[in-house]
Amino acid sequence: MIDATIWPARDYSRVPYRLYHDRELYEREQERIFRGPVWHYLALEAEIPEPGDFRAARVGDTPVVVNRDRDGEIRAFVNRCAHRGALVRRELSGNANEHICIYHQWCYGLDGRLMAIPFRRGVRGKGGLDRDFDMGSHGLRPLRVAAVNGAIFGTLAQDAEPLDTFLGATILAEISRVLHRPVRVLGYTRQRIRANWKLYAENTRDNYHASLLHEFLVTFGLDRATQVGGVRMDARHRHNITWAEADSDTAEAARSAYNGANIRNDYLTLRAPELVEFRREREDNLSLIITSIFPSVVFAVISNSLAIRQIRPRGVDEVEVHQTLLGYEDDTPDMALHRLHQANLVGPAGLVSMEDGEAIELAHRASRPDRDRTTVIELGGAGVISDRDYRVNDVPLRGFWSYYAELLGIEPPDAVR
Ligand SMILES: [Fe+2]
Repeated sequence: MIDATIWPARDYSRVPYRLYHDRELYEREQERIFRGPVWHYLALEAEIPEPGDFRAARVGDTPVVVNRDRDGEIRAFVNRCAHRGALVRRELSGNANEHICIYHQWCYGLDGRLMAIPFRRGVRGKGGLDRDFDMGSHGLRPLRVAAVNGAIFGTLAQDAEPLDTFLGATILAEISRVLHRPVRVLGYTRQRIRANWKLYAENTRDNYHASLLHEFLVTFGLDRATQVGGVRMDARHRHNITWAEADSDTAEAARSAYNGANIRNDYLTLRAPELVEFRREREDNLSLIITSIFPSVVFAVISNSLAIRQIRPRGVDEVEVHQTLLGYEDDTPDMALHRLHQANLVGPAGLVSMEDGEAIELAHRASRPDRDRTTVIELGGAGVISDRDYRVNDVPLRGFWSYYAELLGIEPPDAVR
């Protein structure tokens, strides 16, 4: 049984490997985080524009269906038949008047109500349900839903704080910035990685690994530790924005900073340089904004590419990264194509994500045999968890663990928050 004594340091600068591998803990995460008082990204309103449109989603291990009802309201339900617990909607998306389970064809409306049951009155006067069976209390289990600029979030917990409070002003502003005008889905990718989901959640909060691990990004100046940038969190430090500015360093500064690191940034050229071309769309110079929202959604702006990544745990040893690639409705065809090319840096065959997958698989495999040993998270200093105006730091990882420990009821005494 894992409890508050698991932490060797109250500032979360040491994370025991056990936390990535314990099966009992995985079940507790499902209960306290995924079925707990936390909001989870489900889908975009733009993906279900018409009444009857639906999309499959996941909240941890729980299958969810999101639909737009006849009145245009967005609703979300646990995708599970009240009768025998079977998945009702098996498609990823579509349009329908109702949701019918294939097993015994119990039929639910777009408002989740149980509408019809075959043989309810029996056959030839025999069988069927009792007269007083209450159809009204056997609908699909609803989630609370709320949206920010068309991004739909849901929670299974009735006692969750309001979505706006959960996200906080910093994160709300960033989502509004990405979704400031109507978006269009350009495609989807899914990538399976054989590692615990929290290793991926850490990966997106770790600002500067990209400038070391991802040689492609360093070589072509898309992401370097020498750029102006930093990390910005919500007040509880559970979410994080990693940011960097374009053209804010020089090739010379980068060469001298990387001097000694095992990085080559001077021997490759691209036959299609437009792949890495940053087309300025705003007043500011921000070219990299990775917004990680606890526990499992990431809004990623890399150069001109826009994507929403969902981190979907698949047991203690596997995670699926589901990406929704976005453009804006008023993009020119050329701009849409440009975003799609750049989005392909990330994703299962991308020049960047393959390395993340490999790196966290290495961490998962090598940490497994030695569960009492720990990681060392001290870049940017140990102790206080706070925003930084420089890129080389691990601080938001400690913020993630701090809120994780609170939710799981394993915060050490005098924990740093
Ligand atoms: Fe990465």
